[in-house]
Amino acid sequence: MCGIIGYCGPRPAAPILIEGLRRLEYRGYDSAGIAVGRDNALTVIKRAGKISNLRGHVTPEMPGIIGIGHTRWATHGGVTDENAHPHTDGSGKIAIVHNGIIENYQPLKDRLLAEGVHFASETDSEVIAHLLAGFYRGDLEAAVKETVSLIKGTYGIVAMHSDEPGRLVGARNGSPLVLGVGEGEMFLASDVTAIIAHTRQVIYIEDGEVISVTGRDYRTTDLRDNQIVKHIDHVGWELEEIEKAGFTHFMEKEIHEQPEAIRRATTGRIDHEFATGHLGGLNLSNRELLEINRVKILAAGTSYHAAMVASYVLESIARIPTTAELASELRYRNPIVERNSLYFAISQSGETADTLYAMREVQRKGGRVLGICNVVGSTIARESDGGVYIHSGPEIAVASTKAFTSQLTAFYLFALIMGRMRDVSFEQGARFVEELESVPEKIERILADTTRIQDLARRYARYDNMLFLGRGINYPVALEAALKLKEVSYIHAEGYSAAEIKHGPIALINEETPSLFIVPDDGLRSKVINNMKEVKARQGRVIALAVEGDQEVEAIADDTLFVPRSSELMYPFLMTVPTQLFAYYCAIERGCNVDQPRNLAKSVTVE
Ligand code: F6R
Repeated sequence: MCGIIGYCGPRPAAPILIEGLRRLEYRGYDSAGIAVGRDNALTVIKRAGKISNLRGHVTPEMPGIIGIGHTRWATHGGVTDENAHPHTDGSGKIAIVHNGIIENYQPLKDRLLAEGVHFASETDSEVIAHLLAGFYRGDLEAAVKETVSLIKGTYGIVAMHSDEPGRLVGARNGSPLVLGVGEGEMFLASDVTAIIAHTRQVIYIEDGEVISVTGRDYRTTDLRDNQIVKHIDHVGWELEEIEKAGFTHFMEKEIHEQPEAIRRATTGRIDHEFATGHLGGLNLSNRELLEINRVKILAAGTSYHAAMVASYVLESIARIPTTAELASELRYRNPIVERNSLYFAISQSGETADTLYAMREVQRKGGRVLGICNVVGSTIARESDGGVYIHSGPEIAVASTKAFTSQLTAFYLFALIMGRMRDVSFEQGARFVEELESVPEKIERILADTTRIQDLARRYARYDNMLFLGRGINYPVALEAALKLKEVSYIHAEGYSAAEIKHGPIALINEETPSLFIVPDDGLRSKVINNMKEVKARQGRVIALAVEGDQEVEAIADDTLFVPRSSELMYPFLMTVPTQLFAYYCAIERGCNVDQPRNLAKSVTVE
């Protein structure tokens, strides 16, 4: 979604802002702009479409050593030059960039219109610039505080005023903002990826805080002007991690990073002596863990599919009733929060509004929520009552891949801990550990030769509809496979339980609607084979994702992809990877923008 970058220091601002915006591209956007200040004047350049549309208007020589930039993902008002940020007040002295949604912008706008203020855009954000102008009496920080006191909704804001040429002021409520502390220069951004080329020293701004920044110092206060002492965090990510490293796309790179990401997610977290896991961040004693009799996992999108897989694993080996909950639904269901229930909020970005608000709702009712996040310092990670970082490294492609398998890894470790405290014996635990530790190497085998998957994608990318079918623990894998395909290739895809198709979806089957069946050698194999035959009998083409050497499945299917043999619970890892590659290659075949699919955003910070 929208991205923010601000710069204050001795260097020309424009190239730094443009570079920062490029690093934010992955979040998804539809327009971009910058405002640069010099000699008590601001220059604003903004365009609908890609950042490259700013080229020709922004030159490296463009004067100005302070500025703000923004990538917009439209919410209020269409994708136009006027609606792009930064927005200015009537005098052109104030410029602002804003992430989030101002819920009460209409009454505020009506009031400003009645006062004769002219609006240049249809956005909710523009009210901020005009409110600031009304409150400005020589102190931008004070004006920001008065402005945000009137605003209802979510915001990450950065403002500048041409009369205060060396200062940026930021404020946050529900939309991330981070300060990068450089050598004689400062950066404000919605996301550390925009600034780690310049500094790894960061300060996370919290809700209700306002930060006033010059090139040399910063001051953080609350809305009542109380000073807040902040500590500096060090970002562990390397710059290379947010670059493509020889791959054509980030999605491809991130699919290939999975073996390493899974290893990282388990590093230091397996206790071989007791054949169990060790997750220090849970902040729960063994006694407290023993008292848990229900687990609920809040999530959205791909993370929700990881939660579904997790529910099978937890129930299977720990025998704890577990449900995956769509965070967006749970929040408004007046959820029943029971004693001895444990909640997880699982989110790659740690900023997904649906998941964050559901987590807050559960916490408000006294529930304990642990976070499973990738982005260190993200809001969910900070507000949860403990949790686990999956450490997959930055995920830049909008479509989530490596985060999914790393999220599974974290849950498998949690399930092992809970299982070993209950019925799982040492021998069973040791076997589980061995199987989990063998997953990265098996994924490497799948990734070593992708030509068959590429060939398949070449032949199937022409279809407009596809079904993905799996059962048991691989049912959510089918859902995830369908989500991946539709996101990146725009092929309409549905995931179903293979058992369910006879209850309706089988009506879709004809020679133009292929089905991909996930057929591991588990207890449901013969039933899935029957489902495959039902589809074949109706002229449906069948791709099978089966286990090496399964000739029976190969003989039924039109095309078969194989994964290495494994234990039942580990197949979600192995079955997922070929479906990610299939989606990736189908998207390439169809000429889609793989890393930034249309209409999508990486971090969905609005409800
Ligand atoms: C799918 C995808 C989205 C996200 C969802 C939740 O490829 O990327 O469905 O999984 O928006 O995002 P996080 O995990 O950041 O909460």
